[in-house]
Amino acid sequence: MTANPLTQPGIAHPAIDETMISRLVSIFYARVRRDPVIGAIFNEAVADWDHHLAKITDFWSGVMLRTGRYHGRPMQPHLVLPLEPRHFDAWLALFEATAREICPPDAAAAFIIRARRIADSFEMARASQRGEFIRPRHSVG
Ligand code: HEM
Repeated sequence: MTANPLTQPGIAHPAIDETMISRLVSIFYARVRRDPVIGAIFNEAVADWDHHLAKITDFWSGVMLRTGRYHGRPMQPHLVLPLEPRHFDAWLALFEATAREICPPDAAAAFIIRARRIADSFEMARASQRGEFIRPRHSVG
């Protein structure tokens, strides 16, 4: 059985610290808000960007550094939002480009593999909600 990517131990990486996470999150979401494919979804759903960025920073701190700072339910909004495969592809393309630009290569790679697994877990959960079963599109192969 495949380990749950939301709970399996994080990749503790010596090159990754809170400053890098905050920078990645703030630059990534500034780009997300202007993105032609996913910008509108975020701008409609997020009323308080400071709150959203703080929550996402806690999320990545928990994933990458195991700080336990995030106590939310990350799956929930991604089950109810009108997300299509192209939205996941655009989100990941932007995240990966941003991580490669602002992090050292090995740190970027660590963020990227986690993001792909989590994106796949959201897509697979959405499929199972529809009674379908899909293969992970981004983290395997
Ligand atoms: C199709 C791609 C995605 C879209 C369009 C999207 C959109 C959103 C939106 C609009 C929210 C805010 C919901 C609200 O405040 O009501 C949200 C929350 C969140 N997203 Fe995404 N997301 C995507 C992919 C991802 C991925 C791949 C990750 C993780 C790697 C992620 C992590 C989170 C987290 C942690 C939250 C906060 C959940 C909470 O409220 O605790 N998202 N997302």
